[in-house]
Amino acid sequence: MFAIVLLGLTRSLGTGTNQAENHPSLSWQNCRSGGSCTQTSGSVVLDSNWRWTHDSSLTNCYDGNEWSSSLCPDPKTCSDNCLIDGADYSGTYGITSSGNSLKLVFVTNGPYSTNIGSRVYLLKDESHYQIFDLKNKEFTFTVDDSNLDCGLNGALYFVSMDEDGGTSRFSSNKAGAKYGTGYCDAQCPHDIKFINGEANVENWKPQTNDENAGNGRYGACCTEMDIWEANKYATAYTPHICTVNGEYRCDGSECGDTDSGNRYGGVCDKDGCDFNSYRMGNTSFWGPGLIIDTGKPVTVVTQFVTKDGTDNGQLSEIRRKYVQGGKVIENTVVNIAGMSSGNSITDDFCNEQKSAFGDTNDFEKKGGLSGLGKAFDYGMVLVLSLWDDHQVNMLWLDSIYPTDQPASQPGVKRGPCATSSGAPSDVESQHPDSSVTFSDIRFGPIDSTY
Ligand SMILES: *[C@@H]1O[C@H](CO)[C@@H](O)[C@H](O)[C@H]1NC(C)=O
Repeated sequence: MFAIVLLGLTRSLGTGTNQAENHPSLSWQNCRSGGSCTQTSGSVVLDSNWRWTHDSSLTNCYDGNEWSSSLCPDPKTCSDNCLIDGADYSGTYGITSSGNSLKLVFVTNGPYSTNIGSRVYLLKDESHYQIFDLKNKEFTFTVDDSNLDCGLNGALYFVSMDEDGGTSRFSSNKAGAKYGTGYCDAQCPHDIKFINGEANVENWKPQTNDENAGNGRYGACCTEMDIWEANKYATAYTPHICTVNGEYRCDGSECGDTDSGNRYGGVCDKDGCDFNSYRMGNTSFWGPGLIIDTGKPVTVVTQFVTKDGTDNGQLSEIRRKYVQGGKVIENTVVNIAGMSSGNSITDDFCNEQKSAFGDTNDFEKKGGLSGLGKAFDYGMVLVLSLWDDHQVNMLWLDSIYPTDQPASQPGVKRGPCATSSGAPSDVESQHPDSSVTFSDIRFGPIDSTY
């Protein structure tokens, strides 16, 4: 007689050993009031979505933009069968670091695949993301956008992901932060392959214009603070608030899917409240050879001011300064009819902007800046990414958008790029060597980091 012995079969999403996972190191500065800073050693981890996922005999669980029907007939079986593997950061993904500097290259022709863009998170240790509470604090970094054309977005932002990537909340997730699991943002993306430790295989539809991506039934939602979305022609900073705490797997109408005509019906504010100097009336500020010359690196300072000036106070303002050539350059002043002439994001700025531009005010409805402050208390993870836009060609950042509105209408023109620019097939073939370099990250009390 034979007994069937289950040899420690882990019924969960595990990790492969084909490629060792060595996180590129990235140091950053923790500053104190007065301006003295301590170097902190950290590292970055590649998001799990970019990684090879295979079964124990190295058969692909996901190939191109489709799941294996045999290994992944349903979410649980798929997670049980599949492993997420380590990443060759430079060879496969074009990600390199040195000291306090991180470079992301757009298109990388690796031995097995052509990789497009990347998304990495700052780690505190091998299995935990670095958590930040930004209230009453200042976050500063230097960025080189000189090699980012229209349609590209070198982004630095915060989202409220789980510190461990979801392993303690979801026992089926054994990969965790070490393998970059647990991503979420305010667009409630449906293209995340594993959410809450389960494969997003149900209703999976490959994207018609993206040979690597598809969309599943569930989305991964959470509050997002876009400190930096930019190329050499346009830049914006934008808070987006969700009415859920931390990472939340949405299903159906709560995802707020634009395609279903439900953009404002979900748990997140997808539009956000953006400050883009060009859109706010100053078209000679950010660009090659302009007041801030994007041909050179620039230091970006973002201050999260509270009403009473304490760490526990209500978040009331997000200020921006730039430093270039040893000079501090204040953010541009709003120059839009019907709006006050401030130069920062406040609830009043958002309300005035939504009404001047005729935009839906989902930002206020989802909680405004005080809502964002509550998400900050919950803890935020730092994301650095380089991407092109398969939905609307990044026109919302650097061109005329919506494209069917007259450019003369307030709020429609966001940057100097042509409406025909930014198609992924064009930018990937014409600018594969594009890159963004982030360096010298600093965090501390207001006015301590620059
Ligand atoms: C744009 O902003 C900069 C910085 O605040 C300022 O020096 C410049 O005069 C502004 N230009 C216009 C046309 O408003």
